[in-house]
Amino acid sequence: MCSQTVLSMEPALKIIEELSPVSEGAIIPLLQRLQDAYGYLPQAVVAEAAEKTGLPFSRLYGVATFYSQFRMTPSGRHTVRCCRGTACHVRGSKEVADALERELGVGDGGTTEDMRFTLETVACLGTCFLAPVIMVDNDYYGSLAPDMITKVLDSYQ
Ligand code: FES
Repeated sequence: MCSQTVLSMEPALKIIEELSPVSEGAIIPLLQRLQDAYGYLPQAVVAEAAEKTGLPFSRLYGVATFYSQFRMTPSGRHTVRCCRGTACHVRGSKEVADALERELGVGDGGTTEDMRFTLETVACLGTCFLAPVIMVDNDYYGSLAPDMITKVLDSYQ
């Protein structure tokens, strides 16, 4: 069964109108507002923004894909960040990452089919003393072993 939803341009049009005229220097705030409204930056919304502002689509799309703060695909309800930094690596982050990928059925940057989780790999979470460590949304889980992953994920619906 196909469950495709039609994307409403209404939030985008409202934001563009509020920020108009949009200059080159206002591209990032514009994209941030659009992402806040949609949860990510759908290509159709970027195209609409280009048409309405008169800025080239290639410019808007280029900025959106350059900065890691922007997502071009929808994210899951929860973001799992798996640290692969040196401190975590020497304490077994590879096994933790493998367990996460197995449990979620997606790789780095992937989102589960039920839109529950998006998995991301990061260079350091700034809590090396907890190695190996992952974050789920704003919660830290440290000194992890692969067999603890299921229990951690089960607490997020
Ligand atoms: S290396 Fe993993 S938290 Fe710093």
